[in-house]
Order: sequence, then structure tokens, then C-alpha cells
Amino acid sequence: MCGIFAISGTDDQAGQKVLAGLKKLEYRGYDSWGIALKYREKNEVIIKKEVGKISNIDQEFPPAQEAFGHSRWATHGGVTKENAHPHKFGKVTLVHNGIFENYLEEKKLFTEKFLSETDSEVIAALLDKNIAEICTQKQCIFPLLAGEGEGEVDQEFAKKIIFDAIVKTVEKIEGRFAILVFVDGVDGIFAARRGSPLILGRGKNETFIASDIPAFLKYTNVVNYLDDDEMVWVHQGEAVYQNMKSREIIQKRDIEVPWKEEQAEKGDFPHFMIKEIFEQKDTIARAINHDDEELLKAAKLLENCNGAYIVACGTAHKVAMVAEYYFARISGRKVNVVPASEMPDFERFINEKTAVIAISQSGETADVMEVLERSKKKSAKILALTNVESSSMARLADVHLAINAGPEKAVASTKAATSQMALAFLLAYADAEIRGISKINVGREILRSTAGIINDNLNPRYEEHIREIARKLFPEEKLFIIGRGTLYPMALEAAIKIQEVSYIPALAFAAGELKHGPIALIENGTPCIVLGSDLETISNATELKSRGARIIGVATKNDEVFDEWIRVADCDGAQAIASVIPVQILAYHLAIFRGLDPDMPRNLAKSVTVK
Ligand code: F6R
Repeated sequence: MCGIFAISGTDDQAGQKVLAGLKKLEYRGYDSWGIALKYREKNEVIIKKEVGKISNIDQEFPPAQEAFGHSRWATHGGVTKENAHPHKFGKVTLVHNGIFENYLEEKKLFTEKFLSETDSEVIAALLDKNIAEICTQKQCIFPLLAGEGEGEVDQEFAKKIIFDAIVKTVEKIEGRFAILVFVDGVDGIFAARRGSPLILGRGKNETFIASDIPAFLKYTNVVNYLDDDEMVWVHQGEAVYQNMKSREIIQKRDIEVPWKEEQAEKGDFPHFMIKEIFEQKDTIARAINHDDEELLKAAKLLENCNGAYIVACGTAHKVAMVAEYYFARISGRKVNVVPASEMPDFERFINEKTAVIAISQSGETADVMEVLERSKKKSAKILALTNVESSSMARLADVHLAINAGPEKAVASTKAATSQMALAFLLAYADAEIRGISKINVGREILRSTAGIINDNLNPRYEEHIREIARKLFPEEKLFIIGRGTLYPMALEAAIKIQEVSYIPALAFAAGELKHGPIALIENGTPCIVLGSDLETISNATELKSRGARIIGVATKNDEVFDEWIRVADCDGAQAIASVIPVQILAYHLAIFRGLDPDMPRNLAKSVTVK
């Protein structure tokens, strides 16, 4: 949610490079964009900002060695040029990802005029004020920093003052932030974080700071992770880290990430969404590439607990619902699945004997993260299944299992969801192994065969068949989806996919629930997607059909009740994984027929780091 990206280097291309890097982060927010660059003359910061998507922008920037930018998902203040980042207040230029919850209390202490309605401009104002105050306290002989007159700046001393001022500023912030800062007259870029991600890329003579790795993957895959309550100053190849609480200088380990630039590119595909759908040919096999020891270590957290919760949001929450069936069926364990935003009422049941499992692609989703932070304080055991190994959740967890899906750029989660399901399936088998009910290898074999079947089936002919069905469905004004067992959460997931990319109101129900109310909405010709062809589901489909519904069956075998049939291979206990893929393809083509960009649906952003 909001992408931020900075470069401090030695060539004059910082503006161009930030523009290119921000385009790779656009999936995090695309309401507006903005770039600040330090024109070679050090005292001059130039800001360029616009409403709209950065992907459409192609422009030259004046020569600069340091620049940063922001791609916005609006929270405070509408989508206007004034509210676009960067914000300049006094000597401070700043971009911010996160939410400053109590910003109004602080804003009212200023007499100066603010140019935007954002919470972020208040951070810039506080920082500017704090720099001036610290300079005055220290009887600073560097008038530039104190805001008075001209003079030379002692860069080392200035760095200390700004670190002090950042600490003083963030003490006032309730909420989450990742900030990038220029201070007039001072070399380098300052950054700090709490709750929102920031990763440094270490090039030869240049350093990058970004919300996500793809922004700088073109230049380096060597990274340093900034942790919560840490700040950093970077200048060209140099980086100085400090803990904002202890004020200790920190040494960071260089880590090589295994991602390649082309993984974060569309390649020959027109959109990331369809590329990522097709990547499921091999991501499922990668998701289960954990050895038994790792899986057993994760499952042991459950063994020693007397209560287990899975928390997640959106699509990941539907995966969690599938996992609830897996644990019930495979290891006979009851787990409680709660959308992270609904956890507060249940947190009274969390204690040192509770296992809390987080499922999240990004590993940064604010609602989930907050549940984990509160649970950790109560000494609960935390297990995280995430795609981003460096994510906040991965680092906070007692045990982390990577789903290994590679970068997911489309806002709609596809490959990450099926990988999460595969890993949850295997985890249930690990739990069953500990309980002496089954063996991990039984689950692994089912998933290997599922991965093989998906590999064989995902081909252009299959896509074309689904595309033809999308052609018939795209003008519809509503659509129903039903499923039972693990296909019930998949019906809910199918509804999310269709709604978010095609904007067709899609309503999903447990197959048996339909006749308890929603069936009243069925009219002649209403399209209903039916997941599964077991006897009971077919009987529900028949009830729909006799009220005039048009039935699209997504099932292992055809049935006379289906008006259209999308074949799904029989994948034993892992049917949910195989069944959701055709619906992802359907959602994609519905969006295309409706003339929409499936990668960037309106009002949405990847990685929801605000509550
Ligand atoms: C929908 C979608 C979202 C995410 C949700 C959680 O396609 O992608 O519903 O699943 O925002 O995100 P993560 O998995 O990053 O926690």
C-alpha cells in the first residue's frame, strides 16, 4: 500500500531510475505519483508530482544523483496533486507509506499553512520543527539547518542532528510509517520505519531503498533489511544504520535474494495476472519444497498448544478457511479461522498455550500484523506462511514457512493463494504425522500429482475455452457461485476474484445454504458457477436450474445440469487448489472483455499496510 523508492548514486540518472523503479511498485498504489530529486546544486530539491498512474509517464528529469519517489494509495485526503507525495515543509522533503493516526492532534499545534490534507505532510512539518529546535538547543553553528541565513553545513554533525530529530518526530507517531527524507543542504537520504516495509539494495557505488525488492532488482539482488524502529542514512555506496530506541549503530548483513529481474516482469504475457496464473504450472511444486524437518518444526507449535487460530485477510482468509477443512480432515484438529480484522473479540482466548498462524502473501498486511504483535506480547506461538521471506510477519514469527511463489505483482492474488493452500495441506499432514495418523509423504505425493496435473492442464486451449465462456458472461450484472466442503471457501474466493477485477457483483454461498434465502435472487438466465459435481452439489445446481439459472459447472465430470462445463482434473484431497485456477482465468477474461486493467483494479492496492 503505497510504494516508495530512493536512489543515492554517482551518475546523474537518479530521476530516471526512480521513475523506472516506481513503475515496478505501482501495484502498491496508483492514485498518484511523485518524485523529488536533488538537483546537482545541493540546495535545490525539485519535486514533480501528478494524479494518475505512473505507468503512463515517460519523461526526462534534470541531472541528479539522489532522488526518491512515491506511488500513492490515498488514505488521508482525496486523490489530488496537492495530496500526492513528496511533501515539502521548510527544509524537509518527505514521502511516507503508512498512517499517522493521531496527525490531527499534532497538526493543530502548527500556525503554518499546510498545502495538503495528508497526515504525511504533518510528519514533514514535525521533522522540520524538530531539526530547528535541536539546532537551537545545541546552539548550532550551522545556520542552514536552524533555518537562519547562509553557511556551510558540517555534514557529520548535520547527520547526528537529523537522526535526533527523526527519533523525536517518530515518538509522536501512533501508527505505521516508512519514510524517506531529504534535508536541504545535507547530503544523502534518511529513512526510517515502523510497521511498513523498507529494504535497502546495495549496489557498487549506489544504494537503493524501497518498499519492495523488484524496484531495484535490475541493479542488485544484495539487500539489507531495515527492521522496525531502525533508521538509516545513505549516500552513494555508504549506509549508516541506527536503532531509534537504543540509538546504537547497527551493522547489517548483506543478503543475496534468489529473485531474478525477469520474475518481476510480464515477459510475453499482456498482464501480470495471467502470467502469474500460468506460473502455477510450477509454483505449487515449489511451495511444497520444504523438508520434513521444517514442516515438523512448524507442526510442533500446534502439538504443544491447546488452541489454534489462523488469521488472514481477503484471499488469504479464504485459503485459511480451506486450511480449516484440511486440519479437520487430515489431522483431526480443530483450528479457528478468523479474519484478522475480527480478531479483537477473540484475543481474550490467546495465551502462551495458543498457536497463531498467519497466512499472508506480503507478510505485511496491517490487520494480521497487529494480531501477531498483540499475540506475541501474550507469549502465544506464532507461525507465519508468507511469500516475502523478509517480511515483518516472517521476522516476527517463531517459525516461518516460505511459500516460494516468487514476486506476485498483480493486485489479485492467484499463484500465492494456491501455494498457500498447498503448504497448508502439507502442514496438516505434518500435524497428522506427529499425531500418528498419517505421513507427510502421503500429502506430498497428492500435491506432486496435483502439481503435475495443473502443469499439463494449464495450456492455451484450456484458456481459450474459458475465454469463450467469459465472452458470454461479461455483460452480466450479477453472478452466483456455489461450492461445498473445501470448494465453499473457493466459491468465496472466486467471488473475490471476479468482483475485484471485473467489477461484476458476484455472490458466493455454501451450496446447501442457497435455498435458505439467496435463491430468491435467481431469475431466468442468472449465471451460476457451480464448483464440483458430487451428488449433493448437483442436486443444488438442479434446484437453481429449475428456477431458470444458467449453470456453469467447474468440475471433474460433466453433468446434464451444466449449460457450460469447465473441466478440472481429479486431484484427490487437493481439489480446491485445482478448482480455483479456472475461475481465476475466468475472472481475468471477464475483466479484459469489460475493457478493464486486471492488474490494477480501482480503489485497490497490493499489500494493505493500513487498517
Ligand atoms: C485479493 C487479494 C487480497 C489479499 C489480502 C491479504 O485477490 O489479493 O484479498 O489476499 O489483501 O493480503 P496478504 O496475503 O498480502 O496478507
